[in-house]
Amino acid sequence: MNDTSRVIEIMLGGQPSRIVLGPLAALELSRFIPQPPPVYLVDEAVARLQPAWLAALQSGCDPDRSGTLVLAGGESGKQLERLAHIYGWLAERGLPRDGTVVGIGGGALLDVAGFAAATWQRGVGWVSVPTTLLAMIDAAIGGKTGINAAGLKNQVGAFHPASGVMVDCGFLVSLPRTGWRDGLAEMIKAAVIGDTLLFDDLEAAGPQLRALFGAGSGDAGDAVPGVLGALPWRDWVARAVTVKADVVRRDFLEQGPRRALNLGHTLGHALESWRAGTPEPLSHGQAVAIGMAVVFRIAVERGQCPLLVAVRVNELLDACGLPTRCAAPPVPELERLLSADKKRRDGRVRWVLPRGLGQVDLDGDVAIADLLRWLD
Ligand SMILES: NC(=O)c1ccc[n+]([C@@H]2O[C@H](COP(=O)([O-])OP(=O)(O)OC[C@H]3O[C@@H](n4cnc5c(N)ncnc54)[C@H](O)[C@@H]3O)[C@@H](O)[C@H]2O)c1
Ligand SMILES: [Zn+2]
Repeated sequence: MNDTSRVIEIMLGGQPSRIVLGPLAALELSRFIPQPPPVYLVDEAVARLQPAWLAALQSGCDPDRSGTLVLAGGESGKQLERLAHIYGWLAERGLPRDGTVVGIGGGALLDVAGFAAATWQRGVGWVSVPTTLLAMIDAAIGGKTGINAAGLKNQVGAFHPASGVMVDCGFLVSLPRTGWRDGLAEMIKAAVIGDTLLFDDLEAAGPQLRALFGAGSGDAGDAVPGVLGALPWRDWVARAVTVKADVVRRDFLEQGPRRALNLGHTLGHALESWRAGTPEPLSHGQAVAIGMAVVFRIAVERGQCPLLVAVRVNELLDACGLPTRCAAPPVPELERLLSADKKRRDGRVRWVLPRGLGQVDLDGDVAIADLLRWLD
């Protein structure tokens, strides 16, 4: 390990999963890859925006035994057709049962690449290199892989923990503002459920966050000049990773405490699915931000959460340029989307409702009428 790397080791489903955090962590990739040589599934944005990386990877590859497949990143790649394409390529490469897939990219690429690794020959080795903020603190940690199907988010998937997750904030230099905002939504969620000091620190940095990411800060699709040096990202990323790692190590298969990570996600997933494919899609982070803001409002209304906490959360989301409300889907559509939610058990959807910072109720009930009061 280089001097400034830090390793968090967790056991997931009886398997060790090592999360390496630090500058140039990704250069330590080779330590996690046993023979035979791995295959690389690389997000096109990384290949395009950080070509030196791709070149470094490929220079270490034996083209006869390894290989790199560059795939378009983003949500539209989390589908059966993409998976079929990957399987075809793995067959061409002849990836054996003891082979390894390395995924390098955003959460969507990692979800589909991880699912390919989970299912190819009933499961081959899997190592991930997250390259967006959201992927670093959330998607890459905890072993969930999957794709969207039947018009529903993450409907088909598998638990398949990566043996190594290389978290290197250097990749974030090219991340567009929209990607930062999405990651910040999950960082705020992590702070709310598991690290109130991180919440305080984010809040204290509100003016800088607003200048970098708030409304009017610049084009959503542009990289954010000077962002890496402006705030203590490595520290914040490590703390958000720690929150997620602590939750998933206690409850890998999502029987109980892991459901806390779904704060804002029950409504968020419904809104994300509803707006997908429309002229105004909601990204995962935007949908989760609205989902969180709405459950905070509901919890305050019920007297279960202090108003001040909800106001602080709302303010922080707003400082990060995240939406806190949107139009409501038609009621039958909202019912359909919510009833398909995988957190539904015993015939009901279990909502994660906040009680304050660091405290959530994992088994709440929310009626459609409650939601409609807080959607436009
Ligand atoms: N498996 C899990 O536990 C889990 C948890 C949370 C989220 N997710 C999933 O993660 C996905 C969202 O991930 P995301 O926010 O990373 O979005 P994403 O993967 O869709 O990536 C967003 C865009 O950023 C590009 N990109 C990737 N790295 C980049 C870089 N360094 N610089 C510039 N552009 C880059 C991608 O090509 C893509 O166009 C969703 O599908 C969500 O369901 C999974
Ligand atoms: Zn999420």
